[in-house]
Amino acid sequence: MEIEHGIEVLDEAAEKVCEPPRITVERRKKILFAASEATPFIATGGLAEVVGSLSKAIAEDERFDVRVILPLYQDIKKEYRKDFRFIGHFNVPLGWRNQYCGIFEYILDGVTFYFVDNEYYFKRPGCYGYYDDGERFGFFCRAVMEFMDFSKFYPDILHTHDWQAALASIYLKTIYCYRPEYQFIRSLFTLHNIEYQGKFSLDTIEELFGIPRGFLGLLEYDHCLNLMKGAIECSERFSTVSPTYAGEIKDPYFSHGLDPIVRRNEHKLCGILNGIDTKAYDPETDKALFANYTVFDLAPKAVCKAELQKMLNLPVRADVPIVAMISRLVSHKGLDLVRGVIEEALRRDMQFVVLGTGDPEYENYFTDLARRYPGKAASVITFNSDLSRKLYSGADIFLMPSKSEPCGLSQMIASRYGTVAVVRETGGLKDSITPYGAGGNGFTFRDYNAHDMLFVLNEALTLFNDKEKWRELVKRAMSSDFSWRKSANYYEGLYLGMLNERKNK
Ligand code: GLC
Repeated sequence: MEIEHGIEVLDEAAEKVCEPPRITVERRKKILFAASEATPFIATGGLAEVVGSLSKAIAEDERFDVRVILPLYQDIKKEYRKDFRFIGHFNVPLGWRNQYCGIFEYILDGVTFYFVDNEYYFKRPGCYGYYDDGERFGFFCRAVMEFMDFSKFYPDILHTHDWQAALASIYLKTIYCYRPEYQFIRSLFTLHNIEYQGKFSLDTIEELFGIPRGFLGLLEYDHCLNLMKGAIECSERFSTVSPTYAGEIKDPYFSHGLDPIVRRNEHKLCGILNGIDTKAYDPETDKALFANYTVFDLAPKAVCKAELQKMLNLPVRADVPIVAMISRLVSHKGLDLVRGVIEEALRRDMQFVVLGTGDPEYENYFTDLARRYPGKAASVITFNSDLSRKLYSGADIFLMPSKSEPCGLSQMIASRYGTVAVVRETGGLKDSITPYGAGGNGFTFRDYNAHDMLFVLNEALTLFNDKEKWRELVKRAMSSDFSWRKSANYYEGLYLGMLNERKNK
């Protein structure tokens, strides 16, 4: 039996003797995710949820051997960390440096996770925001490439996420593809938000990242080294997290300057809508909820609402709708629209709750709003997963008027908890929430305009008073399929397509 690109083929002599039908036994395809965060270990945002839950969904398909590699941050949850297994160490060259790298392993839900240990780079609070983030993630990506040699795990697909892992795709095509074991590895780069591109000064290419200057053309953009641009150029395919966003990033309004690169590489681009982990977000079993409920038995959702009102010092009333926002408090989340019309909205009988942290400008605004509208508005300037689940389940309407939103997960989680989403038609919001009037699961408005938002919010508030119709809509929202299965199938098809192209070369 010989192995051709990992596919076992019966040899000719054996075939002649017993004349069997020609059998090819496909071995499992090896997928390596490289990313800077993943649930349940460490999370600062949606990226972590996607890496954690997509890897798990793909691993459910036994055709794939899925592994994920992450930095070993100090803040990785202790409950997991105590069971990590040390599997060895090696040195990583990075420019003129040569740094220690330990590898720890942990297996969860069929996915093998590896953690890159170097205390100098990662024994710090949080994940990002340090002056040397370029060097830290340069080290991480170079460690990912060296790890393959160390572990002899040469993936069929290297799937990198966002600028922090982009260099792994770049290293593959600039330095490592000349080594025989690396030459068949194919790269998929997923960008979760085009706003964060990983820009550095040009002289860092050799000095910091150890990439020969001759490759500058691949990475240079607008007088900077741009890692997102480099990964788009170097990968066989790149993707983003919703079909609508895949179209939007070709447009300067959304692209943060990168639209010429996106358009030039359009033939390699696809948009696949994220899913959510429907087991981790399940109102029937979620322990953070005041009461559990299902689409067939909605009564306990009223308990969630009453307890939430008590907790937030709002009048406990079932007949008043609670409008909630759970968001990073930054401009592109559409907060200027909210600021423009929320007081007009508050003239109606409603309660408004904001949960999140972000720019002081917005934090102060919402704190002040709560002070000026006691009993009607509340703000909780923190981020806390337990509280967010209490809000997803206790509220009636979930407001998410983002200016741009690559995918957005909150609108899906809210819907799953029977809280009706009111969203702007952009990115993944447009792909996941469809208008009630057309038989959909929520309310949407198109233009980035405060009164357009207020108009649909008012529609939602009015419908809330029609108990029968509202209940139907809540059920429709809860029954929307936001599981990963469909999207994981798209990723799997994408991987297999890339591997087929490899065979045909
Ligand atoms: C980023 C995007 C968000 C998306 C998430 C996961 O955080 O801003 O829209 O849902 O990545 O892909």
